[in-house]
Amino acid sequence: MDSRDAKVLAEATAVLEANRCRGAAQVPLCRFDYTCPSRDTYPFQFGWDSAFHAIALAHIDPVRAQAELSSLLLAKQPSGFLPHMVLWQDDLRSRAATDFTIVVAESGWHTVTTQPPVLPRAVERVWRATRDAHWLDSILADLEDVMRWWLDFRDPDGTGLVTIFQPDESGLDSCSKYDELLGVPGENTPEVAARWHEAMRGLFAAYAPDIGHRRPETDLSGHGRFVWKDVLVNCIFADSAAALARLLSDRGHPRNAADWERTAGHIGRALRERCWDSASGAFYDTYTTPDGQRLARVLTASSLFPLILEDTPRSIARDLVEHLTDKREFWLPYPVPSVAASEPSFDPAFETTALFRGPSWVNLNWYLLAGLRTHGFERVAEELAARTKAMVASSGLRECYNPLDGAGYGARDFAWSSLVVTM
Ligand code: GLC
Repeated sequence: MDSRDAKVLAEATAVLEANRCRGAAQVPLCRFDYTCPSRDTYPFQFGWDSAFHAIALAHIDPVRAQAELSSLLLAKQPSGFLPHMVLWQDDLRSRAATDFTIVVAESGWHTVTTQPPVLPRAVERVWRATRDAHWLDSILADLEDVMRWWLDFRDPDGTGLVTIFQPDESGLDSCSKYDELLGVPGENTPEVAARWHEAMRGLFAAYAPDIGHRRPETDLSGHGRFVWKDVLVNCIFADSAAALARLLSDRGHPRNAADWERTAGHIGRALRERCWDSASGAFYDTYTTPDGQRLARVLTASSLFPLILEDTPRSIARDLVEHLTDKREFWLPYPVPSVAASEPSFDPAFETTALFRGPSWVNLNWYLLAGLRTHGFERVAEELAARTKAMVASSGLRECYNPLDGAGYGARDFAWSSLVVTM
C-alpha cells in the first residue's frame, strides 16, 4: 500500500467510526447500530447509503458491516418494504420533516418511499469477507422478501421493469433526466434548486388524496404524475437479483437461486428492449405520459449502468465504454460526472446546489468500476480507480466532486465516499 492509499484508508476508517450511531429505539423497540451518511446533514439511516457503508466496512471491520445491514433489516416491513430513511431517534424525527421533502409513515419512524435495493449486493460482499453462514442463513429469507416487494408492488404486471413514483426513490434526487417531466429548466441556471423543490411540492399535492393514509404499497401510478422506469434502479435491482441468486446457491437453495437468476435476466432483456437507443449507443429511462411511454433523452451516468450487468452483450458494453471514455462526455479529469459534459444541464461546480447534475459521486464510480471489470475493460477500470482515489485523497470524503478539478462539494465526512477503500 502506498502512502496515498494509507491516508485514504485512515480517513475512511475515521469517518466510518465518527458517523457510527448506536442506541435503543422505543418504536419499534430495538437496538440500532448504523453509520449515518453525515453527522451534520444526514443523521438518519438511509437505505442505499447503509448498503454502501457495509461494502466499505467489509474491508475494514466485517463484523460491524454485519451490524450495519442487520440494523437496516430491522426496518423491513412484513410486506418486504425497506424504507428510504429510518428515523430511529425520537429527537431527530422533527428534523426529518423540516429538512427534507418526504412523507413519513403514520408510525412516524420511517419514510413511505424506498431507495435502490443495493442490500443483496452488500450482503454478498460481507458474506465473502466473513463466511459467516449462521448470519447469512438468518437473513436470506428477509433478502428475498425485500426483492419480492419490488416485483409485487413496483411491477405488479410483470413488465420486467420496476417503477419509482418520486425522483428521490432512485437516490439521484434532482438529476436533470427528470427535468422535462417535472417542469424544471433543463439548463444550468440558478433557479434549478427552487424549481425542483416546487416540483416536489406539486407532486406531493397531486398525491395528497393518498398522503394521510399513504402506505409504501400504495399504487400511485393512477395519478399519472411520475411513473418512471429508471435505468439505474433497474440495473441495481437486476444486479442484486443476481447476487441473491449466488447467495442462495451458496447456501444450498438451487430452486430459489434459479428464480432470481431468471428475474435478473428478464430485467436485463427488458432494459435492452425498452431503454436501449442503438442510434446513440446509450440507455435512457422511460416514463409514462398521456400519449404513451417516452424516453428521457439526457445522457447521464445511469445511461451507462447496464455495464454492471453480466449479460449485457459485448457490443453494447463496448458502446457504453466508448461514451464513458469520451472526453467530451464522461472522461473528464475526475470521472464519472453524473451528467455528461455535453448536456446543457451539466453543472460541474455544483452551482445549482441540486444533486446529481454533473459532479462525480463515489458510489456511482464503485458500480461502474465493477461493471468495467466484469466486461474485461481492465485498463479503463484501473484508470477510473486511480482517479477516484486521487480525488478523495486531495479533497477528503465529500458528498460529491467537481469532475474537472476534483474539488469537493456538499456534506463533509460523507460516509459512502469510503467505498474508495475497496477500489
Ligand atoms: C441525498 C442523496 C441520496 C442519499 C442521501 C443521504 O438525498 O440524493 O441518494 O441517500 O442524500 O446520503
